[in-house]
Amino acid sequence: INVALIFGGKSGEHEVSLSSASSIYRYINKEKYNIYTIGITKDGNWMYYEGDVEKIENGSWEKEAKKDVKINLIPTLNQKVGLEFGDNTFKEIDVLFPVLHGPYGEDGSIQGLFEISNIAYVGCNVLASSVGMDKLVCKKVFEQENIPQVKYTYTTRCEFNNDEEGQLRSIESMIPYPIFIKPANLGSSVGISKANNKKELIKGIKEALEYDRRVVLEEGVNAKEIEVSVLGNEEIKASVVGEIIPAKEFYDYEAKYLNKESKLIIPATIEESISEKIREMAINAFKSIDGSGLSRVDFFVEKQTNNIYINEINTMPGFTNISMYPKLWESTGISYDKLIDELINLALK
Ligand code: DAL
Ligand code: MG
Repeated sequence: INVALIFGGKSGEHEVSLSSASSIYRYINKEKYNIYTIGITKDGNWMYYEGDVEKIENGSWEKEAKKDVKINLIPTLNQKVGLEFGDNTFKEIDVLFPVLHGPYGEDGSIQGLFEISNIAYVGCNVLASSVGMDKLVCKKVFEQENIPQVKYTYTTRCEFNNDEEGQLRSIESMIPYPIFIKPANLGSSVGISKANNKKELIKGIKEALEYDRRVVLEEGVNAKEIEVSVLGNEEIKASVVGEIIPAKEFYDYEAKYLNKESKLIIPATIEESISEKIREMAINAFKSIDGSGLSRVDFFVEKQTNNIYINEINTMPGFTNISMYPKLWESTGISYDKLIDELINLALK
């Protein structure tokens, strides 16, 4: 079976993808699968790469990308989809594995290209990917499904610039401080901040609006950050539940990927009855966006009340061998290499 791992990407989470992809490359069953690696630069250029996995991890692969390999994903009359090498040999691809996080890779864009190529691919389809990536539309879908969430609202660049005072009044009347401010469309906590007062709210919104036209505002609750992994197409499984102890005040990009002191606790320090509810809610959330393959669903469990709120769904979660998604499956009884195998099987179904 020929598998193309696609890594990097035109996204703020490019480096995370390099780590996820090199981990997958190291552990994938190479007797069962022939692996082809395709990198996407931060500028969005696709290049075929063949070489040490360390160079994928540290980013130096770009200098050694093979310029004479054509990556053809658009079927035309005179050319099949696949890889065409300089010596005129051709390789068909059976499964595409986009190990890409954030914009273009996790938001339905590349999934749309894969649909056109008519090649099977790992993970969520176009709809689930784009809904999962958009914090605002996703909240509306969860709301429709009665999956509990913290209080939220949103503003747009245009509305905020036209009537800053009015927007602030409306936000403050709906959500008590502290308020989390999030660009609607970026992963890995990029552009997110927390406001304890109006001054910080204005600063946070302006910053978030640099990343996105739409900004979501959410009530900050004093809560444990709980995550669960789901796996499947029609029959969906949910893993043991895990907990994040952030190194910083909240689990931002730096705490997540640059600061090694954030801790994963598996299983989470919550009662089994709550974990069971969370697993059920995670499966409902996955179904509500029409997910397939995999997702990691993130929750808050309020410390005083044990109230459960869904936070977000990540359709291509961090996937290094020490990331939460595979760690949760490992604790549930599926090893990292088996997990990769299962995802490829789900893609081929
Ligand atoms: N967006 C990152 C990769 C995650 O959620 O794990
Ligand atoms: Mg995310």
